[in-house]
Amino acid sequence: MAALVLSLHDTTKVCCISILTFFSVCIEAKRPHIVFMVADDYGWNDVGFHNPDMITPNIDKLASEGVILNQSYVQPVCSPSRNLFIYVCLQHLVIKHKQAACSPVGIPFLPEYLKKLGYATHIIGKWHLGFCKWECTPTYRGFDTFYGFYNGREDYYNRSVFGGHDFRDGEEPILPDRTKYSTYIYAERAREVISKHDKDKPFYLYFPFQSPHEPIEVPTAYEDQCNHIKNEGRRKYCGMVKALDDLVGDVTAALKDNGMYDDTLLIFTSDNGGSHLFHASNYPLRGAKVTVYEGGTRAVALISGAGLEKTGYTYDGMIHAVDWMPTILSAAGGKPETCIDGIDQWENLRRGCPSKRTEFIYNLDDSSLPITGHAAIRVGDYKLIEGYPGPYPDWYEPETENSDIYKREREHFQKNGEIETNEQASCYKRQLFNIKDDPYERHDISLTHTSLADALSKRLAEYHTQMVSANFPDDSEASDPQLHGGFWSPGWC
Ligand SMILES: *[C@@H]1O[C@H](CO)[C@@H](O)[C@H](O)[C@H]1NC(C)=O
Ligand SMILES: *[C@@H]1O[C@H](CO)[C@@H](O)[C@H](O)[C@H]1NC(C)=O
Repeated sequence: MAALVLSLHDTTKVCCISILTFFSVCIEAKRPHIVFMVADDYGWNDVGFHNPDMITPNIDKLASEGVILNQSYVQPVCSPSRNLFIYVCLQHLVIKHKQAACSPVGIPFLPEYLKKLGYATHIIGKWHLGFCKWECTPTYRGFDTFYGFYNGREDYYNRSVFGGHDFRDGEEPILPDRTKYSTYIYAERAREVISKHDKDKPFYLYFPFQSPHEPIEVPTAYEDQCNHIKNEGRRKYCGMVKALDDLVGDVTAALKDNGMYDDTLLIFTSDNGGSHLFHASNYPLRGAKVTVYEGGTRAVALISGAGLEKTGYTYDGMIHAVDWMPTILSAAGGKPETCIDGIDQWENLRRGCPSKRTEFIYNLDDSSLPITGHAAIRVGDYKLIEGYPGPYPDWYEPETENSDIYKREREHFQKNGEIETNEQASCYKRQLFNIKDDPYERHDISLTHTSLADALSKRLAEYHTQMVSANFPDDSEASDPQLHGGFWSPGWC
């Protein structure tokens, strides 16, 4: 029988008929290993390839060997983005720790599809897609293993938040060495799952990092590497970013050690923009986390490794968080459903062809809720923001000197949280920007381009009619960790 040369991305079943034997032999081609890394509250201006003050050699290397995605968009806060990464009603803020809500059960997540294709599926890090019942949690949603925490943030050492511990290995509550900074324990786990993996089987690791989300905590050894930054908060943040970059390096090293690296497709993205209140920076983009300006929504993103034909350049096509699920499934040789919002971009990304996406929704919130959120749409080069854009409308440069330039915003945040009231929200006028010519949103052209603004408003209204209501229940006291052995645990919805 003639030798079959199968390229890695050729994941379809190849059947060849041996002329000599008349036997039909079907060979399953090799599927790529896939590692999907998500940095938490990571700013546009916080990666080495955008800002030389930041030390990210491992991320930069993946970028230079792969493709930088320059127009890759996410939701302005994290649960909605995380939801989209693995499936597609979380448009309204994040899931709070006492809320009996989770990403709708009954709708399969990406790892469930990947398992059907033979993948081993692992998650390390932050879940934040709800945990009020077991059915909401990672090992019930397609992951073989889980090592990490359920809530949106926690202490980097004691693994606790809001008065409860929050850490699991699978379903088991654990508290790994509380003297160890979290990136170290995640690195150990990553090395373990990778080294134990049988490399002949396809491997999927979803790695939603804890870093560099607040609380701002970092070992001195990392902070010391950022001594070129005078401002203490920004220097610590820079150290956290360096720790995150080391984690990326640990993953690539472990893949190499286990002979898997050349067959691995790696994706790296932030989940939303950085928060200047906690020393991140999206400059020169406008705004920050929780705003629909570009600073809250345009992600640091790249794709690198197996299957890419064209590399070493910046891809300018539009990608949206919803696209990752069908794109990853397609890269894995699966057939994404076509009835979802996400677009399979694999062929375009792989070959450097134009994006299939020409428009997307930045956010579309439910005006029936007590807090009117943001609504914004992009069509081609144009972006329309309707209503409240979020609390941080400025251009926040990284802090350099040791002075507290964001004191006013920090005090406001401590007093009001991240949101304004409905009354204030209704005072905002619509804004229109040409993102191609004006990526930093400095020139609102809504008054000079009224018919264009009207057309985009109309399009946004069309989406509104199709919208599923947000599930945003009141807090439930049954969530209290003291009722569950001191840990944030399922069993209260
Ligand atoms: C964890 O550390 C934080 C400080 O970062 C502290 O406020 C909290 O009380 C600690 N929790 C536990 C359970 O030790
Ligand atoms: C990436 O986007 C920014 C902002 O729109 C733009 O200034 C820059 O030139 C783009 N980079 C490349 C390499 O296309």
